Amino acid sequence: MLSTAPKNTATDPEYHEILRSLSEGSVNRHFDPYVDIDWDAPEFAVHSDDPRWIMPDEDPLGRHPWYKAQSIDRQIAIGMWRQAGIAKVGLDFEQLLIRGLMQYLISVPNGDPEFRYITHEAAEECNHTMMFQEMINRIGYHDVVGMGTIDRKLTMIIWPAVKYFPELFFTMILGGEEPIDHLQKSLLRGGVDLHPMVQRVMQIHVAEEARHISFAHEYLRRNVPGMNVVTKTALSVLFPIAMRIMLDMIMTPPKEFVAKFDIPAEVMRDAYWRSPQSQLTMRNIFGDVRALATTSGMINPVAKLTWRLLGIDGPVTRYRSEPARKAA
Ligand SMILES: [Fe+2]
Ligand SMILES: [Fe+2]
Repeated sequence: MLSTAPKNTATDPEYHEILRSLSEGSVNRHFDPYVDIDWDAPEFAVHSDDPRWIMPDEDPLGRHPWYKAQSIDRQIAIGMWRQAGIAKVGLDFEQLLIRGLMQYLISVPNGDPEFRYITHEAAEECNHTMMFQEMINRIGYHDVVGMGTIDRKLTMIIWPAVKYFPELFFTMILGGEEPIDHLQKSLLRGGVDLHPMVQRVMQIHVAEEARHISFAHEYLRRNVPGMNVVTKTALSVLFPIAMRIMLDMIMTPPKEFVAKFDIPAEVMRDAYWRSPQSQLTMRNIFGDVRALATTSGMINPVAKLTWRLLGIDGPVTRYRSEPARKAA
């Protein structure tokens, strides 16, 4: 069994202090989807001729010449379905995460501050699922799907990981959270003229995810260095693989979307992730996790090669969410 030894964080006062301040953050700065979002505000109304649904250049498909050549009506329809689809896959992922966190908490002992923080995080994720579902319902495409069936099967890895390889579980959490967060932040930062409902949902999500992501980073930074050499080496290779697989699960539209809008296979291949610009997007998403892999001792020749073969190698960020440097 990989995780029978007590974690080296169990008695680490610095780690406990970080968890306490993250928990307080959850109390002092949290959102309720039915208090903090005025769903029925007139500006939140959804209209199928609103050009703000057109996908922006920040989106790998949105900037593709094929998409730009579609009629405005079609660009809007594609954009609405896609926006709802991103929320749906986010929702699927959050539900999986909540179940995994609950399973993890079963073995957290009395007095361990992980219990409180992780429960706060799970409660926030429950709110996110409601917020995403409400937005999907209001967008009104009821045929929207999230994760594909193969992706759902792949996620079965989560169950044994939670119990026997929690470092891999928290890696998978990061693999899901980082791409969504990166995409949402690039839209908010880029000053894209988003529909106000989408914008509000993204602002809330980004604000709360900052805590979740910093917890996952902290967990790995503190637990990975103490792992035995076999599991640490395994994780160093599984880490970029998990990032790459999760990126596809989260960011690549499902086949139902491709079929509905008759998107040529060539266009899909370009956008996800063959074109040079898409490859750059993909690399840039993982600047922070490359920094984490480096500081927690997960870079070795095999791991380095894996990062490179997967097309997600590159510079590390110097601080969280540092915008991609020119060298990237
Ligand atoms: Fe979330
Ligand atoms: Fe989260």
